[in-house]
Amino acid sequence: MNARVIDGKAMAAELRTELAALVDDMPVRPGLRVIIVGDNPASRAYVRTKTRNAAEVGMDGSLIEMPVATTTGELLAEIERLNADPATHGILVQLPLPEQIDETVVLDAIDPAKDVDGFHPLNVGRLFSAGREIADDLLVPCTPYGCLHMLKKVLGEDALGGMNAVIVGRSNIVGKPMAALLLSVDCTVTIAHSRTRALPEICREADILVAAVGRAEMVRGEWIKHGATVIDVGINRVSGVYGKSHLVGDVHFASASEVAGAITPVPGGVGPMTVACLLRNTLVAAKALTS
Ligand code: GUN
Repeated sequence: MNARVIDGKAMAAELRTELAALVDDMPVRPGLRVIIVGDNPASRAYVRTKTRNAAEVGMDGSLIEMPVATTTGELLAEIERLNADPATHGILVQLPLPEQIDETVVLDAIDPAKDVDGFHPLNVGRLFSAGREIADDLLVPCTPYGCLHMLKKVLGEDALGGMNAVIVGRSNIVGKPMAALLLSVDCTVTIAHSRTRALPEICREADILVAAVGRAEMVRGEWIKHGATVIDVGINRVSGVYGKSHLVGDVHFASASEVAGAITPVPGGVGPMTVACLLRNTLVAAKALTS
């Protein structure tokens, strides 16, 4: 293996330490409310990490659990309650939602000032109309923000300009906001997806390759340019020998790490940074709402 393995766990711990000091200086305790609807085991594990990490940096984090049969109206009523609650500075509705719930209506109902996911159309619009500076008070989607943080740490803030960045995946949660963030640091950005032709060739042009397609180990070492920085956003559970399952990314780690210059592992790469960036957003929201 040649590639440097990017330690997302350590970078996230460092960011949390910085945030804990800032939370300590706040006149109020930032309040984060995480809503989960239903009992998807992976989602339940993610939300527990979010509220636990919030508590670890001194925030008031709590989980609101709603049954799988919850209606759009019932979820909207809960969001209205939290929008009006002065002790709530951040609201996150864990996705995906059960299919009877209208996700767009739900995300639009969250007060944009408390939208710590950065998914409300107002915050999406602000991100896409930002220029070369992402303002300190902007609520930016957590996963791509964490990816950008890691890229700056690994490559250096000033080195990103002019680099070819290829994002595989066009989701609202990762692919599209990742493109906006990479543009803001002067990368040349390509968003590839399931209908893209000659995907391996396009990936081989990338100095920075972000894989966010949700397909286990799809991106192979042969798709990667020598020395490229690879950010693997995928978290896929696959079954192994003796019926035991384990997590893999969207990148085939063994072959990719022979070619890449640096690569994030799964787990321990993007995941911890996503949660740290959620805490950053909660602090930003709390500051704006209490100033
Ligand atoms: N599901 C997967 N990633 C995310 C995320 O960043 N935010 C929310 N709310 N749900 C998710």
